[in-house]
Amino acid sequence: MIRIAVAGAGPYVEAAYAQAAGVAYMPLPAPESESPSDLLGRLNGASAPEVLVLDSREDPELCLSLAARFSAEHPDTVLLMIADDAETLGLRAMRAGVKDLVPADADDHQVEQALGSAVQLAEKLTARHAAAHDQEPTGRVITVVSPKGGAGKTTIATNLAVACAVAVPHSTVIVDLDLQFGDVATALNLTPEHFLPDVLQSAASGDTIALKTRLTLHETGLYVVPAPESPAAGDSITSGQISQLLQLLSREFDYVVVDTSPGISDHTLGALDQTTDPLLLTTLSVPGVSGLRKVVDTLSVLQMFTGNYHVVVNFADTSHGVTRKDVNETLGVAVETSIPVSKAAPASLNVGVPLMQAGTRDPLVKALAPLASSLLPDGVDLDRRGRLRERRRTSR
Ligand SMILES: Nc1ncnc2c1ncn2[C@@H]1O[C@H](COP(=O)(O)OP(=O)(O)OP(=O)(O)O)[C@@H](O)[C@H]1O
Ligand SMILES: [Mg+2]
Repeated sequence: MIRIAVAGAGPYVEAAYAQAAGVAYMPLPAPESESPSDLLGRLNGASAPEVLVLDSREDPELCLSLAARFSAEHPDTVLLMIADDAETLGLRAMRAGVKDLVPADADDHQVEQALGSAVQLAEKLTARHAAAHDQEPTGRVITVVSPKGGAGKTTIATNLAVACAVAVPHSTVIVDLDLQFGDVATALNLTPEHFLPDVLQSAASGDTIALKTRLTLHETGLYVVPAPESPAAGDSITSGQISQLLQLLSREFDYVVVDTSPGISDHTLGALDQTTDPLLLTTLSVPGVSGLRKVVDTLSVLQMFTGNYHVVVNFADTSHGVTRKDVNETLGVAVETSIPVSKAAPASLNVGVPLMQAGTRDPLVKALAPLASSLLPDGVDLDRRGRLRERRRTSR
């Protein structure tokens, strides 16, 4: 059923909308902030309605800002606005994503008509959404998470992404979600023209062709979504936008590798929402391992994943007293991959050539190759230097 929420309508107007909407009517108080989640918080956990009517008479500016954010974050909700002066607000309201303005003095018939067209449009959007859902993403989304900084997230994300891109051409995109200090582009020696905010803009319009033109191509065939150019530019990015982007990318690519900032920010949670393969990373240190335990606990409270993590230990040097067995016991999940210290890793990050790309003998490559191979299609795997090795399909 198409649900119609009406925010902040006075008693007279409210009655007309309640009657026209019938049982699908959901009254909401007047918005107090520009934040869609504040308004939706009043719906007791229900998802965004298919049609939202904002009564702008009290505070038109606030409603315009709210509408702009609402349409960016919930592009499937049809927005209507009740206005005293529809002509003055008209253009700005349309730019904010409002589909129709209804005069405050509209009679019952006009209200019925406005809601009727909004419901028709909402039904089309819902059907389109369901159709898109049917050809659901086939790609794997691999998100590298670590509670502590400097554990090697960027090193591992870029090396894994390059490995997948080389093994299966045109298959892989890496997204830098370290919104403030992301350095994936540097780690790949790229000078991008487009950054995450540009790519999100294309994703919001659902235009995958425009989106692809805003990806940066690395010499290995890996596509890259670099972090915003300036740390402040990430402030306005929402976790919903991240989720939507990854969903779109996973329809276009076999592998979407996501690098994150330390800890689990809202943005990382947005990514985890679309993640098929969470890669939990720690060093062999007490703070690192106990931090990762908290991450596992948080994900379990949020009912995200049930132990199907890839646990990776980096800088796997047991001389400081913490062992792989300690990690297994603390997390309750077995360590899948241990990456030893690699003398070449810091220099490779500095020159911007991942070790997987260099094809040299290196302990990091040797340890990561089986993990990369486990993600690759049957019959394709990497040797200990990260080079492609065609494996014979085993037939019985
Ligand atoms: N196995 C390793 N052996 C040696 N050096 C490593 C290894 N893994 C990562 N490094 C080095 O450790 C430093 C931190 O790595 P990286 O930038 O990948 O960590 P990060 O988790 O992304 O950090 P941040 O939290 O700041 O984003 C880099 O200089 C990198 O080259
Ligand atoms: Mg990093």
